[in-house]
Amino acid sequence: MRFTEGFTMCGIVGYIGKSSSLQLLVDGLKRLEYRGYDSAGIAFQNGKGVEVYKIKGKLKDLQQILPDPSPAFSVGLGHTRWATHGAPSTVNAHPHRAEGITVVHNGIIENYREIRAHLEADGHHFLSETDTEVVPHLISKYLKEGLPIRKAIRSAVRQLKGTYALGILSDGDPNTLFTVRKGSPLVIGIGSEAFYFASDIPAILPYTRRFLYLDDEQICTIEDSNLDIRDLESDAVISYEGKTVEIDWTPDLAEKCGHDYFMHKEIFEQPQALRATIGERLNDPLGFVTDLRIYLQRRSDVQKLHIVSCGTSYHAALIGKYMIERIARVPVTVDISSEYRYRNPIIENGTLFVAITQSGETADTLAAQREAERRGARTLSICNVVGSTSTREANVVLYTRSGPEIGVASTKTFTSQMAALCLLALGMAIGKNCLNRQEAETLQEQFRELPDLMEKTLSMDAQIRTLAGSLMEAKDFLYLARGINYPLALEGALKLKEISYIHAEGYPAGEMKHGPIALIDKGLPVVVIAPSNDLFDKVFSNIEEVKARGGRVIAVTDAPDVLKGKADDIVPVPSTHPLFTPFINVIPLQLLAYHIGVLRNCDVDQPRNLAKSVTVE
Ligand code: F6R
Repeated sequence: MRFTEGFTMCGIVGYIGKSSSLQLLVDGLKRLEYRGYDSAGIAFQNGKGVEVYKIKGKLKDLQQILPDPSPAFSVGLGHTRWATHGAPSTVNAHPHRAEGITVVHNGIIENYREIRAHLEADGHHFLSETDTEVVPHLISKYLKEGLPIRKAIRSAVRQLKGTYALGILSDGDPNTLFTVRKGSPLVIGIGSEAFYFASDIPAILPYTRRFLYLDDEQICTIEDSNLDIRDLESDAVISYEGKTVEIDWTPDLAEKCGHDYFMHKEIFEQPQALRATIGERLNDPLGFVTDLRIYLQRRSDVQKLHIVSCGTSYHAALIGKYMIERIARVPVTVDISSEYRYRNPIIENGTLFVAITQSGETADTLAAQREAERRGARTLSICNVVGSTSTREANVVLYTRSGPEIGVASTKTFTSQMAALCLLALGMAIGKNCLNRQEAETLQEQFRELPDLMEKTLSMDAQIRTLAGSLMEAKDFLYLARGINYPLALEGALKLKEISYIHAEGYPAGEMKHGPIALIDKGLPVVVIAPSNDLFDKVFSNIEEVKARGGRVIAVTDAPDVLKGKADDIVPVPSTHPLFTPFINVIPLQLLAYHIGVLRNCDVDQPRNLAKSVTVE
């Protein structure tokens, strides 16, 4: 997830079936609320034409203007808008209509000004300031020129530059639903007597578990019980046989279930997500690596790994490097996706490229994955979303099994990604005989205990909330750690920044004296991750340096007694194997960011300027 400039968080949902209540569209949009929106609308075929209801505001405002009693409908669309082109207003809200064509859109049409100018010169009259409104006008123009509807849509969208997931209704085709995708996410749900589509799986999770992802530049026409998918460029029919995926997520995974925010729920779901991700795989980590080897056997064994990812997934990758190099002795490079793709990477035989991506749709990570494949690397995707683009394009997939993550800030997918990397490290280490049987079993045993230890750590929630109360006014934070916990300093700072909008920096503690120490002033909160491992004494010295300059030390440690009187605040955590300490230490950092954000009245599930999936560069 990331910055939203050039990217919209709009949500779309569609239904075609025998008949349903309008509530289905409203409920679908409700489940997309986490994407953030400022206006909403729906449209449906009423037997005589298309009815449109839209309004600036929230879904409850939309519900106020819907017909009562709610009419049954068999084809319809819904949209939540996050304004980019034109202010939030009813007229700018979707759906947009022109001469019998009704459209909802997620994405940005970059060349809309030019298209609009041409259409206006041809006599088309526009109502809104949006980029989207050119789409129904263009389609209607081609209809008027005599093209049949699907061809008119195809001709129109091939003129568009930018990104789009579109849902389209035509007055002249009352039993048909059209959808097209380029760059913006879109998933089709296949029910027993109905089809659905949505920007994201949770929107339609209560109705089906069977999904099909439209690829970029594909157009799908759904009529009665027939799905026709075609390539936009060639118009060739694309078979979807064998391409549907079954998702085992349950609808309650997409509900708050008593928590105030999804983020809080998801932090608390971590032990369960970890159990699911490691599951039976932990009995045979070598099995997984063996599959990779089969793939690589013509090229030689896995000699090195290039791990590539963004944001929180990048921090998981950095921790993975420590784990893999430490126990499997295989060299690993870790890059931020947007850097990797442009740095002309050297990919030698035996390189395994690993993309880590919660969503599987992050544009920069996909581009890096394609670049690596183009240069001859075999690719592994560590991903949470079954059937997403990264998994479809990778040679091998290792799914994290976190369930849907709805809070914009990643939490449970982070710990599950670390678990997946740990499985990889263990498997490679066993396969290379870097670990003897007993060492491997000890690690496996300690790894199995992690979910229980995480639960213990979560019981610190109330204490961390109190601590958050005393820190919520701070303007800046520093996070320090060493070794395998250093990436957690980055992750703790990232969580705080995005959730509470407080400036924060993460550093390797040993780097302090090379600059950042100049920042330390009286009362500056410095969160220090201080596990009792071989680096503890060094971290202890760093704490003294901070104290000597008046900083306020908040220590996350399994050695609270040693730090008593030294640190200002201590968050005691359970001990575990040094390699697994990040699984435990990250929890207080997530909770601290969460509580500071809530206390500062921030919308922690939908932080400003951020969206859950970044499908543009
Ligand atoms: C931070 C966060 C983001 C994502 C990043 C990558 O809380 O969620 O930094 O980790 O945008 O997203 P994915 O993993 O979907 O590729």
